[in-house]
Amino acid sequence: MDAIIWENDHLRLLDQTKLPGTMEYIECYDYRKVAESIKRLAVRGAPAIGAAAAYGLVLGAKQINTTDRKEFLEKLEAIAGELRATRPTAVNLAWALDRMLMRVNTSSEQDVEKIRRVMLEEAHAIYQEDVQSNRKMGEFGQELLPNGARVLTHCNAGALATAGYGTALGVIRAAKEKGKEVSVFADETRPLLQGARLTAWEMVQEGIPVTLITDGMAGYLMAKKKVDCVIVGADRITANGDVANKIGTYGVAVLANYHKIPFYVAAPLSTIDMTLSSGEEIPIEERDPKEVTHHAGQAMAPDGVQVWNPAFDVTPNSLVTAIITEMGIIYPPYTENLAKICKPNK
Ligand code: MRU
Repeated sequence: MDAIIWENDHLRLLDQTKLPGTMEYIECYDYRKVAESIKRLAVRGAPAIGAAAAYGLVLGAKQINTTDRKEFLEKLEAIAGELRATRPTAVNLAWALDRMLMRVNTSSEQDVEKIRRVMLEEAHAIYQEDVQSNRKMGEFGQELLPNGARVLTHCNAGALATAGYGTALGVIRAAKEKGKEVSVFADETRPLLQGARLTAWEMVQEGIPVTLITDGMAGYLMAKKKVDCVIVGADRITANGDVANKIGTYGVAVLANYHKIPFYVAAPLSTIDMTLSSGEEIPIEERDPKEVTHHAGQAMAPDGVQVWNPAFDVTPNSLVTAIITEMGIIYPPYTENLAKICKPNK
């Protein structure tokens, strides 16, 4: 169930808009196809769009028809700009593209064909490091889960949202691999149902007991003492530990706080944006109102209704019990403790 596959000369992206019904790959030979796939959420989840964009830039580099290094680099910057503009909130996208450009710009290589090869190596490294980070997060994070833990998650922070294994779902997978019994409650995650379509699907595939609930049921679930902790992923974490994640996450965090349930965020360092001091500064993507008014092409609301459709919200650091990273579990005070594991310019 790989969301992203590099095959010889092109990129294959699992079309997540068709899950769980159909498993179909989009064959990308053109960087524009990758950009379009990111935009319409065929590939989604912060680390996954970073890795996909890195490979997209490799495709773009192949499409630049020149042997002149300077001209090549100028055109590459423009293509990176197009890929970067596809989605604003998940910092992994910009992070991966910056890393690709940095690798190219700091290489003394003059031969454009060799630069293209170096770029493919770098994209592979981004992909592989993400899988390794998720495994490490799983190792650290599973310590937080007692045997029998019942975990609530929101959206999909699984293998589909990353290069593999997953962040929040990686922690759950790791607990299972340690022999612990663990079960999951998946918020359906309106409006695009990543919880119902993707998280529930991943868990069913894996044989991890999963119960699907609508988003509005989370409070009652907690009141009935059916949840031991919440684990979610993140699209961007600022230097003070504020967390942008799928719309609805903030509500879950408030509920968890009220019910005194730990609220954990699992995310790799590539999701931490030390250039922003607080969540107020995170650009929040607003998407097509039709995602709210329509379901499977069918209108669910009257014509002419006004719609607000932010794709993400920001959970303040005060509601976050701990952040699980590949460097270990980070506790408050986040400003101090995140600075210890992140480079200041990142
Ligand atoms: O709009 P999406 O589906 O890309 O949103 C995804 C999320 O919000 C995930 O929780 C987040 O990217 C973390 S994925 C490991």
